[in-house]
Amino acid sequence: MNEQIVILDFGSQYTQVIARRIRECKVYSTIIHYNTPAADIAKMNPSGIILSGGPSSVYAKDAPLPDKAVFKLGIPVLGICFGLQVMAKYLKGKVERGQKREYGKGTLRVKNTRCRLFDRLPQELQVWNSHGDKLTRLPDGFKSVATTENSAFAAIEHARARFYGLQFHPEVVHTPKGKKIISNFVHNICDCGRNWTMRHYVDQAVEDIRTQVGRERVILGLSGGVDSSVAAALIHKAIGKQLTCIFVNNGVLRANEAAVVKEVFGRNFRVKLHYEDATDLFMRKLRGVTDPEKKRKIIGNTFIDVFQKATRKVGKAKFLAQGTLYPDVIESVPIGGNPAALIKSHHNVGGLPEKMKFDLIEPLRCLFKDEVRQLGTELGLPKEIVMRQPFPGPGLAVRILGEVTPGRCEILRNADAIVVEEMKANKLYYKIWQSFAVLLPVRSVGVMGDERTYDYTIAVRAVESKDGMTADWVKLPYKVIETLSTRIINEVDGVNRVCLDVSSKPPATIEWE
Ligand code: XMP
Repeated sequence: MNEQIVILDFGSQYTQVIARRIRECKVYSTIIHYNTPAADIAKMNPSGIILSGGPSSVYAKDAPLPDKAVFKLGIPVLGICFGLQVMAKYLKGKVERGQKREYGKGTLRVKNTRCRLFDRLPQELQVWNSHGDKLTRLPDGFKSVATTENSAFAAIEHARARFYGLQFHPEVVHTPKGKKIISNFVHNICDCGRNWTMRHYVDQAVEDIRTQVGRERVILGLSGGVDSSVAAALIHKAIGKQLTCIFVNNGVLRANEAAVVKEVFGRNFRVKLHYEDATDLFMRKLRGVTDPEKKRKIIGNTFIDVFQKATRKVGKAKFLAQGTLYPDVIESVPIGGNPAALIKSHHNVGGLPEKMKFDLIEPLRCLFKDEVRQLGTELGLPKEIVMRQPFPGPGLAVRILGEVTPGRCEILRNADAIVVEEMKANKLYYKIWQSFAVLLPVRSVGVMGDERTYDYTIAVRAVESKDGMTADWVKLPYKVIETLSTRIINEVDGVNRVCLDVSSKPPATIEWE
């Protein structure tokens, strides 16, 4: 069993960031609901507990409050922002409504340099604040360790009980030394080792998969994306030939996509790979369809049909593997009168498990995306797969505006291949979120040699983003834009004009459909 730190989530937008910072310290972390009973927390045997921030006031009528007994478990506790105020409320301190929210940078002055939370840190630190209420009297047994311009109690400790509180947010990048503070908590105060590494994870996951699967067979829908590829490599390492991967060619894949998957998984890894080329069926179903949502539905439903038939072809299996990730699994906390947002859907393959009688196997469900990439590298997957940009399930179909036809797919595929190639050649591909070509239903007049042309337009889209929710267009060097334009117009039959998309999200979206 891993050493772990549990994080009680009070609805902060930074809770997942806390979890990631801890894992960057090579310690496993788990996010749990703020009102998890202390007895259940004790069963998890954590080395430390972190109380996250949150948007509420501890005095609000419906304030999210933890089981008071978490302070009786004899386990170190670190309260961050709202978490510190929870400590104050329960341990006889005093929190008062702030007149105005303290938001932004502050300077922390560490008064007690012996406090282990600030081990090997300078006495003055830049920190990030975001809080309304304020601690005005220390809880019983606590001492002030550090101050800011606005607070005499910016960091507090009860060294004997190993309780610590921070009014600021150590987890965000605007607290540049915050990771060291978190590292001090988990290593110095909670005595955790540095055992959470991908190598260690591989060994443990392989063992878990073998135990769960026994002598049964597993089926996995391989899309060529990062998550399903890493899941396939991991499960294959655990059970070899008991795993069968199904790769469906839906006709709207990028150039070489099927070839890369066959090469990497079929030839290099020697994974049992069932390749189902359903291009004709998808093209038939998409004929005449121009509405983006209809395209998505058709592709989704057809995929399920084809996948289902393929599972029958490859023979009986007890398990279906999915590349579900940790952020899909974490229950969001219903703060701010929003009880609806409770459990996010965590079915990557949209509806498959309900329809089909499989047990699920989800070997990535405790990992963040960056950890999945590390895991893929550890398993020997090439950078081309591990670091690849996101690609939408409905593929090129949502990048061909208007009707999807085999001819248009061919044009877009060729143009897109040039975009990918040039982005890689100019060392931009792995630095940005997405870069691709879009085929517009616009034809315009041009000249080529002595001939007049009447051909399509390609839009080039390159965006930076952290999570796809918001995005900025990338200011590509003119030289790269010039090469893209020249190459696409010269090399792709049917295109005589290239435009650059200079819109951000919002108000535009990343994809054009
Ligand atoms: P938008 O276009 O909504 O895209 O700004 C945000 C991110 O989601 C991807 N995307 C999709 N992924 N199925 C997917 O699997 C879809 O239907 C879909 N639509 C958009 C998009 O590529 C971007 O990363």
